Amino acid sequence: MVSTSATTGPDTQVVGIYQRMTALAREHSAVNLSQGIPEPVYDAEWRGALAAALPDAHFQYTPTAGTPALRAAVAGLYGDGAPAPVITSGCTEALAALLLGLAEDGYDTVVWLEPFYSYYPGLARMTGMEARSVPVDLTGSGPRLDPDRLAAELSRPGRRTVLLLNSPHNPTGLVLDDGEWQAVRALVGLHDCHLVIDDVYRDFRYGGPPVPYAELLATGRAAVAGGVSKSYAAAGLRLGWLLAPERVARSAEAAHMHLSNCAPDLLQRAAGRLLTEVDGARLARTARDYQRKRDHLLGALTDCGFAVSVPGGGHFVMAVPPADRSWGPEPAIGLLRETGVCALPLDHFFARPHAPWLRFSFAVTAGEVAEAAVRLRDTWNT
Ligand SMILES: Cc1ncc(COP(=O)(O)O)c(C=O)c1O
Repeated sequence: MVSTSATTGPDTQVVGIYQRMTALAREHSAVNLSQGIPEPVYDAEWRGALAAALPDAHFQYTPTAGTPALRAAVAGLYGDGAPAPVITSGCTEALAALLLGLAEDGYDTVVWLEPFYSYYPGLARMTGMEARSVPVDLTGSGPRLDPDRLAAELSRPGRRTVLLLNSPHNPTGLVLDDGEWQAVRALVGLHDCHLVIDDVYRDFRYGGPPVPYAELLATGRAAVAGGVSKSYAAAGLRLGWLLAPERVARSAEAAHMHLSNCAPDLLQRAAGRLLTEVDGARLARTARDYQRKRDHLLGALTDCGFAVSVPGGGHFVMAVPPADRSWGPEPAIGLLRETGVCALPLDHFFARPHAPWLRFSFAVTAGEVAEAAVRLRDTWNT
């Protein structure tokens, strides 16, 4: 297994790659599929909820754990018996607070799947934990968990390990099935680990089962980090949450207090309203729209000779450019110059040597996906 944390402190290079690709996309008037910014599906609802919240809002500190109405709305997403949520500034802060809380509790190692969301190593560095990764099996038509490698990693003697799982997963789109969650649950219990579920893509599943939240949370060894960024298409509002067993929740809440103190009253009021207004049927409709965009993008990439990994969820398609394109060490730049489609290179998502995978977001509008597909096909047909 490969350790990914060589130094301490946040990772400055990771921020740069998103800025660089977006600047290049602008410069080349490209369709920008390099960032995971969701299309504004719920803007009208957000505007309505914010307007309704404004007259009664106050502009002072709020309770550190969040306002009762939003906490109740978030609890409603996780079913009866779930621990009371703590409201944070986005899922990023929820993850940071949970990891800091677990480090405080004596956990010294964090394990995640590779490729991994590029912010994870920086978060782990801030906690001082050793970060290690288990490769996702990308040899088939779609991504799969490798339970044997995961078992080997979690059974390292003398370590207190946090397993950070993101399902649907960024960037592979892996969605764990029921059998895999059972295996995870058994391993976490067997090796005295603590599970953290990064739930930020929770509503973007294209066939796979939901996370068995109640069952996992009932073990007392599982926590969830989520937020409004993706499911409610509001990444800029910076509202998230964590749910954890009492002891971990209190440590994480203390970490949250030192990181951002509390989330704004106005935003919490609006989110409390929106989370109850946007029901399961609406979320499912959005997921079906995303699935259509995924299929459109997959079709174009496949027609153009890319080797694709079919995502079962999330916002991204991973693909390797066809062998007859000699774009050198920076295939994303070659692709951008030749087609006017901007993808994200995944070097910051891998700790091991890897194929030249590119990540294409289909969180953009259907029109942008269609334009990207036309540009790709036009390039390959001429
Ligand atoms: C896997 C994963 N976790 C967490 C986040 C951060 O979410 P938030 O915007 O709520 O901080 C992202 C954002 O892209 C993500 O991809």
